[in-house]
Amino acid sequence: MLAFVLLMLLAYAGLLFPTSSQDNNKNIFILAGQSNMSGRGGINNVTWDGVVPPQCQPNPAILRLSSDLKWVEASEPLHKDIDVNVTCGVGPGMVFANTVLNNKDSSIGGVVGLVPCAIGGTKISEWGRGSHLYNQLVGRASAALQDGGSIQALLWYQGESDTVSPEDAALYKGRLGRFFMDLRDDLQSPLLPIFQVALASGLGPYIEKVREAQLGIDLTNVKCVDAKGLQLEPDHVHLTTQAEVQLGEMLADAFLHSLPTPIQSTAPKTSHNFFIFSTFSIVLIMFRYLNLIVEQDII
Ligand SMILES: *[C@@H]1O[C@H](CO)[C@@H](O)[C@H](O)[C@H]1NC(C)=O
Ligand SMILES: *[C@@H]1O[C@H](CO)[C@@H](O)[C@H](O)[C@H]1NC(C)=O
Ligand SMILES: *[C@@H]1O[C@H](CO)[C@@H](O)[C@H](O)[C@H]1NC(C)=O
Repeated sequence: MLAFVLLMLLAYAGLLFPTSSQDNNKNIFILAGQSNMSGRGGINNVTWDGVVPPQCQPNPAILRLSSDLKWVEASEPLHKDIDVNVTCGVGPGMVFANTVLNNKDSSIGGVVGLVPCAIGGTKISEWGRGSHLYNQLVGRASAALQDGGSIQALLWYQGESDTVSPEDAALYKGRLGRFFMDLRDDLQSPLLPIFQVALASGLGPYIEKVREAQLGIDLTNVKCVDAKGLQLEPDHVHLTTQAEVQLGEMLADAFLHSLPTPIQSTAPKTSHNFFIFSTFSIVLIMFRYLNLIVEQDII
């Protein structure tokens, strides 16, 4: 009996000291939407110029979830193995991560884990719950959480493809809101912060309708930054590398300013405290129990 109890205690103590690594409190950000989120900065004639500005440089504390669901050190182009049918260039993700990590006032420390999911040329209707893109996003987000950490936000830049038909533009606001709510539901994060980008221009004539929807969406913790005025590549379709740098900084600012209190990614700590507490209680109960036995033996 005593041996069994000791064994139980030892097993319990094992849980007290989980293999801890700094990755346990990874700050995870999901990047989704279409080409400007995927990144086309520095692309000319289907070739990336390979120019990586200082703000987009790799950093051992910035990881990305690869297409085969492994954490690897992140580097441009972030979406190279995700948005595979096109040439990818610089997007806002690396700038965002570097800016957030370098901010001295923010309590974001440790590791930033980026989960690239954007695919060029996709309409909002292709991101609806149950679609391939949606399932892919939710699947990658869940995989990202496997070895700890917490999802801090979704960065979303999409809508250009919905400016072409009047019907898509008219339905945009409803579809966008439903997408955000479904996603929060399936990620079990009802107030997941979402930072989206309002279009500067679009592929069709209904830009204003889509912008109105983006700027007018009235959901808690959904913030919008405006891409109006950012520079476009000579193709007039994509943001330049420099514009992507500006956009990444704008998104990082919006994120940093939205933090009401220092970010707490305490999931491991909470469970740690819980184990300490429950082990302590078990030991206490055990002592009382053993005490009783001893007393009974004496009597
Ligand atoms: C684009 O690249 C192709 C193949 O390298 C070349 O033949 C073509 O002249 C280039 N076009 C421009 C506009 O630079
Ligand atoms: C790439 O193209 C193939 C063939 O058209 C398609 O099945 C696949 O879904 C595309 N992948 C992406 C990420 O766009
Ligand atoms: C990229 O973003 C710019 C600025 O919002 C926009 O004008 C352009 O239409 C976007 N392009 C695509 C293909 O999404």
